[in-house]
Formats: sequence, C-alpha cells, structure tokens
Amino acid sequence: MPGYPVLPEGLAYGGDYNPEQWPEEVWREDVRLMREAGVTLVTVGVFNWGLIEPREGDYDFTRLDRILDLLHTAGVYADLATPTSSPPTWFRRRYPGSRLVDRDGHVLGGGSRHSFCPSSPDYAAASERVVAALAARYARHPAVAMWHVHNEYGWANAHCYCPTSAEAFRAWLRDRYGDVGALNAAWGTTFWGLTYGSFDEVEPPVAAPVGLLTGLQLDFMRFSVDAHITCFRRERDTIRRFSDLPVTTNFMIPNCKPMDYWRWAAEVDVVANDHYLDSARADPHIELAMAADLTRSVAGGRPWMLMEHSTGAVNWQPRNLAKRPGEMRRNTLAHVARGSDSAMFFQWRASRYGAEKFHSAMVPHAGTDSLIWRDVVALGADLRALAEVRGARVTAEVAVVWDWESYWALEFEWRPSADLRFRERIEAYYEALWREHVTVDFVHPSADLSPYRLVVAPSSYLLAEASAKNLHLYVEAGGHLLVSYFSGIVDENDTIHPGPCPGALRDVLGVAVEEFHPLREHETVTLRSPGSPGSPGSPGSPEASGPAATGRIWSERVRLAGAGAVREFADGPDAGHPAVTRHDLGAGSAWYVSTALDGESGLRGLVAEVLDHAGVSRPRGLPDTLELVRRGDHLFLINHADTPVTVDGVTGAGVLDGAAYDGSATVPAGGVVVVRT
Ligand code: GLA
Ligand code: GLA
Repeated sequence: MPGYPVLPEGLAYGGDYNPEQWPEEVWREDVRLMREAGVTLVTVGVFNWGLIEPREGDYDFTRLDRILDLLHTAGVYADLATPTSSPPTWFRRRYPGSRLVDRDGHVLGGGSRHSFCPSSPDYAAASERVVAALAARYARHPAVAMWHVHNEYGWANAHCYCPTSAEAFRAWLRDRYGDVGALNAAWGTTFWGLTYGSFDEVEPPVAAPVGLLTGLQLDFMRFSVDAHITCFRRERDTIRRFSDLPVTTNFMIPNCKPMDYWRWAAEVDVVANDHYLDSARADPHIELAMAADLTRSVAGGRPWMLMEHSTGAVNWQPRNLAKRPGEMRRNTLAHVARGSDSAMFFQWRASRYGAEKFHSAMVPHAGTDSLIWRDVVALGADLRALAEVRGARVTAEVAVVWDWESYWALEFEWRPSADLRFRERIEAYYEALWREHVTVDFVHPSADLSPYRLVVAPSSYLLAEASAKNLHLYVEAGGHLLVSYFSGIVDENDTIHPGPCPGALRDVLGVAVEEFHPLREHETVTLRSPGSPGSPGSPGSPEASGPAATGRIWSERVRLAGAGAVREFADGPDAGHPAVTRHDLGAGSAWYVSTALDGESGLRGLVAEVLDHAGVSRPRGLPDTLELVRRGDHLFLINHADTPVTVDGVTGAGVLDGAAYDGSATVPAGGVVVVRT
C-alpha cells in the first residue's frame, strides 16, 4: 500500500516531542536518552504554528531546523506535524470571523488549542499557507519519515454553529439533496409542520426549546465530518505538492463519537490512532482491545500506527490513576498484537507548563531514576525483539457491527429509554467475546461479511434497507447473525421502517415486536429455557437448572414469525414470551436477544452457545483474564491476572524471552509471552 511501512525497519517507537518547551541543553540530553531507550520515531511540531509563524506571513524555522538536524544526527526519524490544530494568537485577533461558536451560541475563547471554525475561509487560507511553507522547507529533510496532519480532528471543535458554518451547512444540503423537496421528504418535515420552503430557511441544530428534527441533527453530524475531512484534504494535498512521504492524522477510536472513521480511513496513507486507558473501569484493557480491533478494522485489516498512548496517568480524567506494574507493557503489546506497527506515546518529556503538566511522559518529572523510565527502556528492547511482526495481519472469524451513524442517532433525545446507549451493548458483547478468547473485526453493516462465521450486531438501531439486505443475504448463504434489541428500527434518515419493529430485520430474524417494555432503573427480569418448570403447558426440563440469567434495561413483546424461542422471560412484563430466539434461514441462522444480558450465566453462556452453533474455533479451559491473540505467525499471550497461567498446545520460540516452548507456555503473573509458532 502507498506510504507503508514508514520506517526502513522494525516497529516505530517514540512519542510526541515538544522540545520548544525546553532550552537547547535539554535537547541534547533528549536525543541521548532516546538512543538509550531505542526510540526510532518522534512526532515533532504539533503545536508550533505560533512559533514558526510568529507574525502573519513571517516565518522563522531556525528552531525547527536545529531540532530536525539533531534528530537526524541521532538516527531518530521525525513524524513531522502540521501545526494547524493550534492557531496562533494573532490569527484569532485578526480574523474574528473564524472563532468557534457552540450550540448555545457562545463564542469560545482563545488561550487554548482547537479554537477555530473548521468552515472558516480565513482558517483555510492561513493553514494552507503555513503547511505549504513547512512542506516546502522539509520535504527532503533526511529526518522526516512521514507527515502528521493537524491533531485529533473533531476532538474539541467537532461542531461549529457560527454564521459561516450555517452557510456551509446549507451549501452541503443543496449538494446532497438538489432540491428542498427531497430534503423535506428525507427529514419528514410534515411533522410539526416544519416544511422548508428553501434551503435558506435551514438553520444548524442549535439549542432549541424542545426536540429537534432528527434528520436535521443527523445531517449536521455528517456535514461536520465532511467539514473536518475538507480541512485534512487541503493540508494533505498541499503536502503532496512537495513530498510523497506517507501522510496521516491521529484518530481517536473509539472515543471521538462525532467523527465517522469509516469515512476518514479512505483519506490517509496509514491509519494512526490515539488511545488512552479509562482508569475508572474495572478491566480497562478490554476497552483497549476493542479500540485496537476497531482501529485495525477501520484500516481495512492493514497494519496501523498507535500514535499516542500513555506511560502512566493522564491529566484529564476525574481521578488519574498511575499504571500498575507491567500495565504499560501489557497495554503496548496488546496494541501490537492487534495490528499496530508502532508504539508511540504522548509525550516524550513531561511538560512543566500549562494544562498538561500532570500528564505522564516517557521522561517523567522524576527523571530517569524512576519506575516509568526503567519500563520505557525495557519496552524499547521488547519492541526491537518484535521487529519481525511488522506487517503481519490479524484474522478473525467473528465480526461486530459498528456504525457511527447508528451511534449518533441512537443517542438523540426522546428515545424509549435513557439506558439505550450505543456503546453499552457493543462493549457487553465485545467483553463476552474477549473472555471467550475470540478475536473480532468490526464491520460497517454494508461491508462484505463473507469472511466471517458469525456477525454480531449489538447496537444497530439505524440500519439502511441495503445494509439489512446485506445481513439477510449473509445468513441465507450460511452465515450466523446475533442481534440485540432495538436494532433495525430506523433507516438512514432516522425514520422508522414500516410495520412492526424491528422493521429492517423482521424477515431475517423471523420475529415481530408488538410493544417495547423498557425496564425501570435497576429493575431486572429473569430468563429461563422454554419448557422449564413453570413454563406454561410444559412438562419441565431437567437440564434447565443452574443460575438463572437476568436481563436489564429492556424487555419487549416478541411474536414469533418463523423463529423459535431459545429462552423465554420467566417474569416481568413479558413473562412466558420469547426473550431469545433463533431463526434458521437458508444455510445459516439469525439469533435475537430482547433484553440486556450480562455476565457469566447470561451473556457469556449465550455467546458461547452461538459461537458453538456457528462453528467458531477457540481455545478452551483458559482463564478469562488471559488475552490471547494471533498475529501472523505470532501468538501473543497477555496475562492480566496476578497469578501465572499455563497454556497448553503452544510450541515455538519465545520472542521476548528467548525461551523454547514445547507443548506449553507459562505466562507469568501480569506478564506477556510472544511465541513464533
Ligand atoms: C404534549 C404535546 C403533544 C405531544 C405530547 C407528547 O402533550 O402537546 O404535541 O408532544 O406532549 O407526550
Ligand atoms: C491527546 C492530544 C495530545 C495530548 C493528549 C493527552 O491525545 O493529541 O496532544 O493532549 O491527548 O492525553
């Protein structure tokens, strides 16, 4: 693929390097320490606009020249960033029309980064000029290995509601719909008599007295993605005039809801992602694994780059926990196991100033006589040993459906229950699969599903007709589909599919829902096997004992229309009616779950049953704290427990420890073993 690999050999190791915050003596120590740790790539210049263009049109590259020359002398490559996420203070003052306006109409202030309107023509012109100057100067600098455009598009200024943005939105709508009648039809504007007479009457979805047209909201989300992609393309294409090195920008999968990364992926030469551990979670490494699998999937299965993570605590969570011993290593190697060809951090040296002075770094405030520095040096050795995994692919038999448009639409106001959250169900199913040691890909519902034995759709509220058809054909051809409640409800305009829910999936699932019965907060319902004691008219089923599965959040009245009941509700508003169903269709099967199952007896058990039915292979008998991933010829075993674990059936060479494994491998408590099989 174009632009890959970015370095001549091995995995890239390093981080954001902001030497402009330090005197020059410190730079010399920096490069000495980079060599000590085995750093090969650093991201330079991310927030340098005000330093390289201190006055409009007046460039000063002396400092950046010296930094890049120094890196080159030290044998460290640069991922050279365009500085456009942090416009200079003069820019704001000179071009007040470029200021960011929030949904409530507040003009957001300066003294910060990301404070600009993505649709501003003044921002476009100024950013293009500085990028051209930067690219012209450094296109052939020997330290530069790749370009890093901007920083985290859509993180802090995803949506702007200023008059310029409003005009750009109207132009976008004209382009999408051609005539206003088509817009009225798509948004269903006969509702509340909100029919538009012309595009000029459309306003962005600013704060309104009550519920806004959801079609308007959805299209504004789409428009905003395009506004940022337009900014990216402008910079990328400017760089291309001078350089053919790979160009990327750092995504924030999955923690930047407004950016549709299926759309973004087509724009970059190599997908790069930033991921930070959510230390409030009980098992944050499972969300990390999900982020890595989703990033790899967004990259189309190709190797990707972990552009930022942290050596220890971040500074922006309510309670910023330090990583536990070995946790940074496990985190990094989990990303590598799941397809990353780099391990980069924010940032190289901890800042003394500003908002991020309490954020961890590779060189912490404590210096080199510190827990973190010793781990950073050791990680460098691990990554050198793992050079041979570069470029290898991860394959999966199971796919999970992920669609950002469904994420947005599900979480608009006025839904049947506030507990319906897109990530809630995706994460529940992902965790069950992770604990079953099943590696998954993520897919858009319109993707080619033929490589997968099982496709899981935990949260597909918005599903276009064509995507539903794709799922239907997949099942008929022998695929297995597992769907959770409140999926297939609306089309791409957030309009309910005609007839009983789940309209788009009724045929493939063989069920029709008569009524939704959302549960109260903390209310649960019990499930049982059909035919178990107490089930109406049944003789009772002896094998249906064991802990009863319970459901939260949702119950509904399911009518069978081709499917059979696999579980039924034992109590609650739908007692005696189907809770889990299976529809054998063509050569495959489609399962439907109409409540929020969790945990070992509920979701784990059901997922295991469906995996078996679909013939998905996986190791058995391992603790569910062991992460097991195969990347090419390498088996990664990451032990998240405080006790060692022995894995049978492992033969090959230990890449990190040099051990020879013959039939089994013991992974130390909190440790990682990688075996070339
Ligand atoms: C109010 C309004 C109706 C409708 C209902 C919904 O009563 O008058 O138009 O919105 O609320 O509960
Ligand atoms: C993001 C940004 C970095 C830094 C880190 C802190 O990833 O890209 O500049 O602010 O967050 O966690």
